[in-house]
Amino acid sequence: MMKIIKILSQNAKYPKGIIGNFILSAMNLGHNKTALWAISKINLQDKKIVLDIGCGGGKNISNFINLNKNLIVFGIDCSKTSVEKSIKTNKNLIDEKRVFISNQDVLSMDFEDEKFDLITAFNTTYFWSDIKRGFELVRRVLKPNGEFMILNDGGSKQALEKYSKTINVENMLLCDEYENLLKKLHFKNIKIYKHKNERTVCIVSTK
Ligand SMILES: C[S@@+](CC[C@H](N)C(=O)[O-])C[C@H]1O[C@@H](n2cnc3c(N)ncnc32)[C@H](O)[C@@H]1O
Repeated sequence: MMKIIKILSQNAKYPKGIIGNFILSAMNLGHNKTALWAISKINLQDKKIVLDIGCGGGKNISNFINLNKNLIVFGIDCSKTSVEKSIKTNKNLIDEKRVFISNQDVLSMDFEDEKFDLITAFNTTYFWSDIKRGFELVRRVLKPNGEFMILNDGGSKQALEKYSKTINVENMLLCDEYENLLKKLHFKNIKIYKHKNERTVCIVSTK
């Protein structure tokens, strides 16, 4: 049992191979309800170009385009298995040059300054080895007044404790710790939304 939990937790952090691929399919399904709830907190109609960091199986990339057909969406993920799965999920949109997916770690992402109107991070920030550095880079590639949205399962103290036991996390922060960090980095209009499931939080802020 412990071995299974270890394999699942390693694959949530860094999906790899057949098991990783299976977990990505499960995440595309299992994360979708809360992801759509979080996306509903953002006005997509005034956005043109979006970056989804840690795009996993790529479901949120297609969610964005389904909600605003004019968007151009970039996805990055440090796992090759995730990138392959995201490419498969969004094949037609990639062929139409509306979606671009690449294998990049947030801490070394290679985009020009002030490129994106919206940057999202669904269930990924707690795997980053340096959240502060990650947020600084998010700020660099975000347009002035661009929005940054974080969704995390494990928003409450109880959920956090449960998650950090089963998932191989680097940094689990509580909502107020995220808020303080974002403030320190001069993000403004910070809004925190708590899902009725009592474990999912969505934090939206503006550059
Ligand atoms: C739990 S999955 C979430 C996937 C997807 N966002 C979702 O909500 O279903 C976490 C994803 O973040 C990616 N990831 C973890 N650390 C990362 C980093 N430093 N840079 C980019 N991607 C990262 C993992 O490879 C994995 O695909």
